[in-house]
Order: sequence, then structure tokens, then C-alpha cells
Amino acid sequence: MKIIVDKKNRKYVIHNTEFHTEKGVISQEDIINAKVGDVLETHMGKKYTVIEPNINDYIDLMKRNCSILLPQDLGLITGFTGIGYGSKIVESGTGAGSSLLFFANIVGPDGHVSSYEIREDFVKIIKENISGTDFKNITLYNQDVTEGFKEEDNSIDLVFLDLPKPGEVIEDAYRILKTGGFITVYTPYVEQFQIVNKVLGKSGFKNIKIREGNVRELEIKKNKTRPNSRMAGHTGYITFARKL
Ligand SMILES: C[S@@+](CC[C@H](N)C(=O)[O-])C[C@H]1O[C@@H](n2cnc3c(N)ncnc32)[C@H](O)[C@@H]1O
Repeated sequence: MKIIVDKKNRKYVIHNTEFHTEKGVISQEDIINAKVGDVLETHMGKKYTVIEPNINDYIDLMKRNCSILLPQDLGLITGFTGIGYGSKIVESGTGAGSSLLFFANIVGPDGHVSSYEIREDFVKIIKENISGTDFKNITLYNQDVTEGFKEEDNSIDLVFLDLPKPGEVIEDAYRILKTGGFITVYTPYVEQFQIVNKVLGKSGFKNIKIREGNVRELEIKKNKTRPNSRMAGHTGYITFARKL
């Protein structure tokens, strides 16, 4: 896949047809001949650079059917759990597949990510989103996760939950996690993480922490540099706990 990006990081997938923008048209010939690194120009002089999408670009451009995990929250999960190359991850729900693809990219071909999604219509979209990548380290289950994880006991490094009632699967998550493995639960609301906390404690998890991923961008202007006034105030709370 090739994409074009303008200097404000607005991205578009290009196919083998002419490309229309608000500031003019890029010819079909230019699009067909475009190589990574080229700068394409519309007939009105607007410039776009041709790049190969990285995982964040791909997630930004893929189809989505629900709210997805954003880089600041995925970064927190990765940073505080220490998952990496070769890790084994299980997650639910899959949604559009943002967290799934991000994890698949992190763990690489020696790692694995299994994901459980209850809705068949969502699974169709997720399969489409997976098919645009080269990942061979994903297993997708069209299953209600409360029926139980299929993974073996003590085999998983991280269980990640992003669904309305995560409390219902925490006990089973404890079973499949390795000793030392982490569970992380994403919840938009305080009332949800209060329930999660109770169940985590009852299920035997230790070292329970709740974190938020607030990112404050600075606007750089001559003699007027300051935080951007339109920052996202809240995404969700992420509860972390460890099987110890
Ligand atoms: C907010 S979305 C997940 C977004 C996903 N983490 C991403 O980054 O794209 C929540 C998903 O959980 C799914 N879900 C809800 N209850 C479920 C259950 N019991 N078993 C499996 N999936 C479930 C929903 O259908 C929905 O797709």
C-alpha cells in the first residue's frame, strides 16, 4: 500500500486513479508512477509526499466501526507491561482491530495475538483490516469471550480487555496468564474501573494500578509557544494488575 501525506500529516491511500483534493488534482500518470519518497503536486501546486504507511498510519486509515484505542493508551500499555518481541497476547473485544494490529506489530513473527469479538458484522470489518497487512501472528475468534478463553493455563504474557463488562472474564484471564504476566483493562468510566478493581482483587491479581494517558501537545509559534487549547481531555482509564 502507498499513501500520500501533506505537511500537516493528513494522509490518503492512493489507488491507480487520478486523485482529487480540495487544492486540485494529481494526474493518474503521476499516481501510477509514484514511488516512496516522491513528492507529487496537484495542478494547483499543493504538494504531497509518497510514503509506505507505518502501523499508526495504517490504523488511522483503516475502516472503523467503534471507538478505537489511541497511540497514547497503547503506548502506556506497552511501556508499563514490558511486552515486546515474542510476547503472547490475548485481547477482547476486537472492535475495529486497532489494539490487535498494534500488538501484532509489537510482538512480531515470534509472538502471537489472539482476539475475541462477539459481533459477526465487526469480524467482517476486522478481517478486511487484517488482510491489508502482512501479519501472520493473529488468531481472531468470533466468540463471546465470557464463554471462556481457548488458551492454555499459564501461557500468556498480557491479557488486554476493552469491552463493556470486563469483570466477567477477569477470573479466566488469571488462569491463562503466566506468573508475572499482566492484565490491562481499558474503561472510559470511573464506575467501570471500580468494579474491575474489586474483581481483580478477588481473582488474586496483585499490584493494581490505574493510569491515564493524557497527552499535552505544544503549539510552536514565534514568541507564542504554549499548550494547544484543543487537547483531548479524556480517553479512558487503564487498570494494570499482575499475576504474582
Ligand atoms: C470499544 S470496542 C474495542 C476496540 C478495540 N480495542 C480497538 O482498539 O479497535 C469494544 C468491542 O467489544 C466487543 N464485545 C462486547 N462484549 C463482548 C463479549 N462479551 N465478547 C467479545 N466481544 C465483545 C464489542 O462488540 C466491540 O467490538
